[in-house]
Amino acid sequence: MKIGILTTGSKHEDERLVEASMALGHEADLLKVLKCSLRVSNDEPKIFYESQDISGKYDIIIPRINLPHTVYGLTILRQFQVMGVYTSDVSIALEIGRDKLRCKQFLMSQGIPVPTTGYGHSKNDFDTSIQAVGGPPLILKLVEGTEGTGVFLAKDEKEAKNILGSFKQFDARVIAQEFIEESSGSDIRAFVVGNKVVASMLRQSQDGDFRANVALGAHSFNVTLTDEERKIVLSAVKAIGINVAGVDVIRSKRGPLIIEINVAPDFGGEFGLETTTGVNVAKEIINFAVRSKERSIRRSRRLMSLKRWRGEGIHPLLPQRWQ
Ligand SMILES: Nc1ncnc2c1ncn2[C@@H]1O[C@H](COP(=O)(O)OP(=O)(O)O)[C@@H](O)[C@H]1O
Ligand SMILES: [Mg+2]
Repeated sequence: MKIGILTTGSKHEDERLVEASMALGHEADLLKVLKCSLRVSNDEPKIFYESQDISGKYDIIIPRINLPHTVYGLTILRQFQVMGVYTSDVSIALEIGRDKLRCKQFLMSQGIPVPTTGYGHSKNDFDTSIQAVGGPPLILKLVEGTEGTGVFLAKDEKEAKNILGSFKQFDARVIAQEFIEESSGSDIRAFVVGNKVVASMLRQSQDGDFRANVALGAHSFNVTLTDEERKIVLSAVKAIGINVAGVDVIRSKRGPLIIEINVAPDFGGEFGLETTTGVNVAKEIINFAVRSKERSIRRSRRLMSLKRWRGEGIHPLLPQRWQ
């Protein structure tokens, strides 16, 4: 198959995905999102790469869209979708995952355990948000953030209001969240591909930081998920319709809680998932995409005939598992 890795540039992961594609007998190109452009039209929609028409060139598109280029990247991904190209994930699922608050609402709708979270727009509601999560100490975090930056621990009310007020000045969206103290700088990263947790690791900060991000110096170790953890991780990815994701879980007194779903998860590096667990994550992703592409052809034929019978159409922008 001809695979396009639609990327905003995460060198290690991009290279691993190309390597794995070739090892499995496929062809793969890196498509840098910012070099793509498009033509929206009823008669002849198109996608260009460095001004060359690449419409119809790829069987599979695998998105790896990082936070700063979310809007542009998802626009290009949607174009592939509406042009009928199989994409290993759909734009709407990436969009939900990227927004920590929206994602929690989807999880909440399915009864999946999450830390209690407060949110408001007005300065007058700072108190309400702080009390909504049980008061200090509490976590404050940017709705769109990554690698631990934009996540703060406020010890008291004054500090909490100071952080909320500072972000408000920049119009940034911030959520308040109950602080799960017993997790003490550790969390679990569970990597999901399709309906399977392919690898997971425990991350532990090394310097007393409450954040367990490897980007901030945490180390990682092999871990076996409990049945309950595995179950909520798989329910969580299903709730937002994502296929490839890194799910962050914290172990709390009242059981595992999902803190976020990373929709462009890294798996390389010294304390990255592949090194820590020895699992070939890139190969899992490519295998999944190829198998799903084959299945999606059969499934969309079946779905299409059912929908035609009902006088409806398939919606190319919605996850198939939602239709
Ligand atoms: N509510 C919480 N209670 C305790 N620790 C938390 C909480 N939320 C986040 N953390 C810690 O902070 C880290 C970063 O938070 P996260 O929401 O995953 O943001 P990011 O997208 O920046 O990784 C987590 O890995 C976890 O160790
Ligand atoms: Mg995280």
